[in-house]
Amino acid sequence: MNEQSAEKNDKGSKEELRIGVFICHCGANIGGFLDVPGVAEYAGTLPNVIHSEHNLYSCAEDGLASIKAAIKEYELNRVVVASCTPRTHEPLFRQCCEEGGVNKYLFEFANIRDQCSWVHMNDWDRGTQKAKDLVRMAVARAALLEPQEEIELAIHPATMVVGGGVSGMTAALSASGTAIQVHLVEKEAALGGMLRNLYNLFPENRKADEVIEDLKKRVEATPNLTVHLGTSIKAIDGYYGNFDVSLDKSGDASRIKVGTIIAATGADEYEPTGLYAYGSDPRIMTQKQLETALKESKIKDIKEAVMIQCVGSRGQDLKYCSRVCCSTAIKNALAIKEVFPEAKVEILHNDIEVYGQRYEDNYHRAREAGVRFKKYDPEKRPEVSIDSGNLKVSFHNQLMNRDMEYHPDLVILSTPLVMNEGGRETAKMLRTPLGGDKFMFEAHVKLRTVDFATDGLYLCGTCHGPADITESVAQANAAASHAVNPMTQEIVLTEAITASVDEEACIGCGFCADICPYAAPKLVTRDDGKFVSRINEALCKGCGTCAAGCPSYAITTRHYQNNQAMAMIHDAFPVPSQAGSDFEPQIIAFTCNWCSYAGADLAGVSRFQYPPNIRIIRFMCSGRIDPMFVFEALRSNADAVLVSGCHIGDCHYIDANYRTKERFESLKEVMAELDIEPERLRLAWISASEGGIFAETIRTMVDEVKSVGPFDKNRLVYKASER
Ligand code: FES
Repeated sequence: MNEQSAEKNDKGSKEELRIGVFICHCGANIGGFLDVPGVAEYAGTLPNVIHSEHNLYSCAEDGLASIKAAIKEYELNRVVVASCTPRTHEPLFRQCCEEGGVNKYLFEFANIRDQCSWVHMNDWDRGTQKAKDLVRMAVARAALLEPQEEIELAIHPATMVVGGGVSGMTAALSASGTAIQVHLVEKEAALGGMLRNLYNLFPENRKADEVIEDLKKRVEATPNLTVHLGTSIKAIDGYYGNFDVSLDKSGDASRIKVGTIIAATGADEYEPTGLYAYGSDPRIMTQKQLETALKESKIKDIKEAVMIQCVGSRGQDLKYCSRVCCSTAIKNALAIKEVFPEAKVEILHNDIEVYGQRYEDNYHRAREAGVRFKKYDPEKRPEVSIDSGNLKVSFHNQLMNRDMEYHPDLVILSTPLVMNEGGRETAKMLRTPLGGDKFMFEAHVKLRTVDFATDGLYLCGTCHGPADITESVAQANAAASHAVNPMTQEIVLTEAITASVDEEACIGCGFCADICPYAAPKLVTRDDGKFVSRINEALCKGCGTCAAGCPSYAITTRHYQNNQAMAMIHDAFPVPSQAGSDFEPQIIAFTCNWCSYAGADLAGVSRFQYPPNIRIIRFMCSGRIDPMFVFEALRSNADAVLVSGCHIGDCHYIDANYRTKERFESLKEVMAELDIEPERLRLAWISASEGGIFAETIRTMVDEVKSVGPFDKNRLVYKASER
């Protein structure tokens, strides 16, 4: 404990700062790799820290009780927890603070597990030192935090489901089980989506038409469910609780008002143009085309059919595995055997993956029915050609290590599901991001799988990624319950982290209005005639790109203020690095919350080891990274800076990272003019799934900065004054 509590926060408040620090062992996950009691003891020496302790599990019931008891006993008004990642545990500790009587925005996290114990498992001393640095940075920021309040808004008791496939109909029916109004918008003239082209559905082999008819009847019989067929969405305005949707039906415009929106826009089958002679002969078809042909009884008398798996996926045009193609091929092979029991069916595969007992049962049924599975060499994929009018499939049987040849009546290509045009348009209108595989991107891969990062928007079905009917239905029910839940409260709380304008400093240039992805800032003329920017807080999502771009520093982002970032920068490395053979570069990384910080988390979860030379400062979006932070880092003992965010096109705030890119390019030019080595500033787009890339980025950056040596901050001062 220490009594250095007399410092005041920078707002001139008379409030005495009383910070409590709680260091978690996380069992042996942290405690097994660094000196947790030593870090807690060190935390107790930091300015304004009134109390510090270490717990076996800070997030367990007794850990949380201990935090609440300490808040009371030591009259704490700021809380720092050093444990795992804020991306999973921040809400829990924030709630704990509120229950203890501390505004939840006066809580700060230090991630000493994913960024420390799990990635520096073999370096106790430097891991411990880094943990102390991360705690010191968190305490410095905590001292400058300010209480925030979320904004209360009335919610319109209606929801809109975009897409009338099985997911959309299920979501609409599920949502309409409450008293709210549900709008189901489908651009085609009929409900059913992709199912309308399918023959039967696994694992029960139920006819697709029966499933559609059953759902349609229930939709039509539901009074509080309005179906808009043949209708496209022209625009979505407004915000969580109050969306204004403009619809168009053959030139007739209308508007609906809804509180929440569910995207269920489905997916398309990949078109394998140019692969396996597709398009050159009608006997070469996709699985969906086969199903349509089976359904319309257009397939006559097959003696032999060959199916080829992973067409266009897993290293061909697309990288990912589409998950449902193996089950689809097995289902359709069984359907062929049912109609033509004597037909030979061969499935040529890279490997067969089905999941769940019932799918496994189908696989065994197919084998028993005589369907043959042959493994091809992925380095030497099968070839399809037309030989004297006959189909010919040549392939190398990997298990038998010999070349084989078939002359089937049909070649069926198993192609992946891909995002469709309607989904892309909807994502654009909702201003929601697409993930690495170009499907819609959920807020959190484990904890918020049917929510978008933006409040009030949800997703389900194959617009989220390849899924079977069972999974799509489960997602649809979950999305409906999330979309309806806010209506029961009648009000919604929107983000407290929004931009705010100091109107006296504002010069009315309008740059913020130009760059905001959400059109939240508006230029207005005040009563005294001054032209200023004002933020519509219901529209603002808190990315902070306006704050980083404001030429007069008139805008800040609540909870991610400049002074808070500066405090962390100043406290990241207490002393300059030492030149010489054992020079260890000191690097500050500015990351966005949604991708690159999550990538760092994944590096931790995956136990990818990298050098402990980096200190991460998190913002909601890379668009918040002000160029002055980079220079301040170099003036404050950092030898280099990493700027990192979501890949271009994947930013969770639509296109805010384009601004990051532009600013980075300008920064590079300025640094070149100042003769600062290019190795000292790096931009890396890293997704949440690229933990390996994050670790590799740090490794290579440390090596590169080692080659240029420590940064002499006097150089920067000299060059700057020279200009
Ligand atoms: Fe990651 Fe914008 S949220 S760069």
